[in-house]
Amino acid sequence: MFNKIRVIGLGYVGLAQALLFNNDYDVVGYDINHDKVLKIKEGNTPFRDIEITNALKSKSLKVTNVFNEAIKESDLIIIATPTHFNEETKMFDLSSIVDILKTLESAKSKSIILIKSTLHVGATIRLRLLFPALNIFFSPEFLKEGSALYDNLYPSRIVVGYNQREAKEAEIARQISTLYLNAVKNKDDVKVFLTSLEEAEAIKLFANAYLALRVSFFNELDTFALTKDLDSLTIIDAISTDPRIGNYYNNPSFGYGGYCLPKDIKQLQTNYDLVPEQLISGTIKSNISRKEFIAQFIIRELIMKQGKTIGVFRLIMKKGSDNFRESSIIDVINILKEEKMEVIIYEPLITDETFHGYKVINDLATFKAKSDLIVTNRYQKELEDVKDKVFTRDLKSRD
Ligand SMILES: NC(=O)c1ccc[n+]([C@@H]2O[C@H](COP(=O)([O-])OP(=O)(O)OC[C@H]3O[C@@H](n4cnc5c(N)ncnc54)[C@H](O)[C@@H]3O)[C@@H](O)[C@H]2O)c1
Repeated sequence: MFNKIRVIGLGYVGLAQALLFNNDYDVVGYDINHDKVLKIKEGNTPFRDIEITNALKSKSLKVTNVFNEAIKESDLIIIATPTHFNEETKMFDLSSIVDILKTLESAKSKSIILIKSTLHVGATIRLRLLFPALNIFFSPEFLKEGSALYDNLYPSRIVVGYNQREAKEAEIARQISTLYLNAVKNKDDVKVFLTSLEEAEAIKLFANAYLALRVSFFNELDTFALTKDLDSLTIIDAISTDPRIGNYYNNPSFGYGGYCLPKDIKQLQTNYDLVPEQLISGTIKSNISRKEFIAQFIIRELIMKQGKTIGVFRLIMKKGSDNFRESSIIDVINILKEEKMEVIIYEPLITDETFHGYKVINDLATFKAKSDLIVTNRYQKELEDVKDKVFTRDLKSRD
């Protein structure tokens, strides 16, 4: 049923979606960012991802920044544009999606429209009411940045939300899930969930809220251990031998961050509205406390070293990341700024001379020499020669 697949928004999610189908279907990608479109047209990846790099090398992807060209003769339109959290309305900003749907409505599109962007619970129903002539479905995306295409090829589950009171919709949802199932490489292992629209939206938000909660749990454990002078790693390793807890995703950090976890849990908190809860808001507060604790601990370490300059090594959240959206270290830096601390930054992704008013020194030897204390969210081999100056809570040397 779906042969002509169009993908709107070629970020981590959209580009991975386009490449997932590019070998077997007629795929066209669209993005408003001209540079990105040009880069992909030339066969280059706009971000670091080995599978995406290889996929673009082995078969070119048709991309355009002319919207009408992109949606022409389409069977399936996948939307993967941003849904930032608006701190004033306490809701996701759906404006990019609404704009696209408006254009599709004007074009009298009869295609199936599948939203892959993360939405709040109730959003798809609302969008359907706003655009009754369009066929809108929702399928959450669970990929990790850095392994976007790999996670699409080997997903842990496929979730498609639809109106369960409509038999015709059940058939479309099944066809969408079959399309994905046929594209993945772990067909026999992947679980399919055909759910209501709101359940599909909730699955995504609760998945990320759990991850944020788990990160916060191990961070609070680490805060406790640091304060009481206990060995955090020993405690973590010992509790993680219990298979109900598991020895994974338990490495302390300066706080959860990245594009999705912070915004998705805040949105879920808004969705709770009048529903009783403590854990969701508790997790958000825990992450703030963790960053405050880390900043104060850094100041203490600096005083102990009788130093004055704090060197921040990398602003990225994870090793190998190519962006620092909502990175926890940035909040730590902001607290250090309020405390009037002297900070320098090493971040090769920054070409400007300053960041948040602090000097960026991208000559590693100079950065090391000028720093009395080097703080890093994730430890890297390059710091081996200055190990004694390093403060990190990366106890397992992994993300
Ligand atoms: N990054 C992740 O790990 C991840 C994982 C799962 C879900 N998500 C969700 O997927 C959505 C997209 O995330 P992302 O990380 O891929 O974002 P991104 O910022 O990497 O990419 C979004 C792309 O959309 C383009 N865009 C913006 N407005 C547009 C418009 N009106 N028309 C066409 N293109 C437009 C941007 O130029 C950009 O290339 C978000 O809702 C996010 O929460 C992200």
